[in-house]
Amino acid sequence: MTTESCGVEEQRVASLASLIGGKARIRGWLYVKNTVGKLVFLRIRDSTGVVQVVVKKDRVGEQVFDQVKKLRRESSLMVEGLVRRDARAPGGFELQAEAVRVMSPSLEDPPLRRNMSPEAVWRYRHLFIRSRTMNTVLKLRSSLSTMLRQWLLDHGYYEVSAPSIVTAATEGGAKMFEVKYFDNKAFLTQSSQFYLEGAIFSLEKVFCFQPSFRAEESKTRRHLSEYWHLEVEACHMDFNQLLQFEEDMLTDVVRRFYEKHREDVERFNPSFKPFEKPFKRITYTQAVELLTNSGVEIEWGRDLGVREEKIIATRIGQPVFVTHYPKETRAFYHMPDPGDPRVVLAADLLVWPYGEITGGGQRIDDYNVLTNRILESGYNPEDYAWYLDLRKYGSVPHSGFGLGFERLLAHILRLPSIKYAVPYPRTQTIVYP
Ligand code: 4AD
Ligand code: MG
Repeated sequence: MTTESCGVEEQRVASLASLIGGKARIRGWLYVKNTVGKLVFLRIRDSTGVVQVVVKKDRVGEQVFDQVKKLRRESSLMVEGLVRRDARAPGGFELQAEAVRVMSPSLEDPPLRRNMSPEAVWRYRHLFIRSRTMNTVLKLRSSLSTMLRQWLLDHGYYEVSAPSIVTAATEGGAKMFEVKYFDNKAFLTQSSQFYLEGAIFSLEKVFCFQPSFRAEESKTRRHLSEYWHLEVEACHMDFNQLLQFEEDMLTDVVRRFYEKHREDVERFNPSFKPFEKPFKRITYTQAVELLTNSGVEIEWGRDLGVREEKIIATRIGQPVFVTHYPKETRAFYHMPDPGDPRVVLAADLLVWPYGEITGGGQRIDDYNVLTNRILESGYNPEDYAWYLDLRKYGSVPHSGFGLGFERLLAHILRLPSIKYAVPYPRTQTIVYP
């Protein structure tokens, strides 16, 4: 069979249902094969779905039939035939092959099977993403990132780019990947926040969506060493406006996403409920009280860990902002609370069960206050000279936040691990393929 044969139009699998009685040509990969006497049933998948193809010897000829009988899964094929109603086929129809062309037969049986061990899933990730589950997750991922971007663009934000190779930490030096940069040392960025802060003095409202890197030795289901970070920064935005903004963005986008993909979302997460406004807000001090009342020992001043966040999120049962953290638990750039300088205008948004999905706050906008906080935190202000410049030339109050994109997706779909929310995860133990 050749591409130009019979003038039959090429179709995607998903559009075959509307072509019953007509002829179509598809290209895809062999998903499942079953031989029953003189018939071979193929399930062929393309990016849009899976269709049953029935191959009969007298229709395709002996040579092609024998070739098809020997095919291994994942072979790439082109099939042309008649779309026929058949109640026994999945979806109620099938393609009766009149011609089959094997574009490239699989050389071996692919190492993909049901109930693969987690090790095999990660080792054969490049193949596993062909699975129907990952096909759907990746489509949803693409849709969610588009919706987040679009929401920000619709609200007057500009998308900017920030470098991945940087010279200084934003969130604490211990979690940085070092890279050899010609004759010098540099790092992979933990956050593009400082570069966004620079950009607001030109564009006022900005965001970026790109990878951040964390050398955390955390083997939890919510940590990646490379994750996609949606970061937003705006000038003239105070702390309360920031929380309102996060709440608006997340409730709007998650609701629209849910409405658009309800069937898929419910297949992954039957109990998913879109976020509702207003989000609950508690201060760190109230969170410590809640934890103490739940029998968890925590001293005021210690940061909340995965376990504590889980308890808070479970107790509250809906997205909750924890605000006003002790300044020692947060990076140096956070604005001290004018009413209580022991705490800063920072907020994490916690959801159950993924814990923290956003972190953000109002930034220090005064040159001297920021210099002192850099010194107090044990850093050298010279390493942050350009960042301090932003407070030297026309400083303005400003705020921003970062959203862990895979955490949000994993939360909505209730994925067993954040590693399923990204095509090729990077963790402490996974760096291949
Ligand atoms: O809380 P983080 O560290 O905050 C910042 O980086 C700020 N500079 C962001 C900003 O204000 N522009 O990270 C922000 C979010 C977290 O709330 C979490 O959702 C996600 O990034 N995150 C991770 N996601 C996956 N794997 C990891 N190792 C993550 N670390 C943080
Ligand atoms: Mg954080």
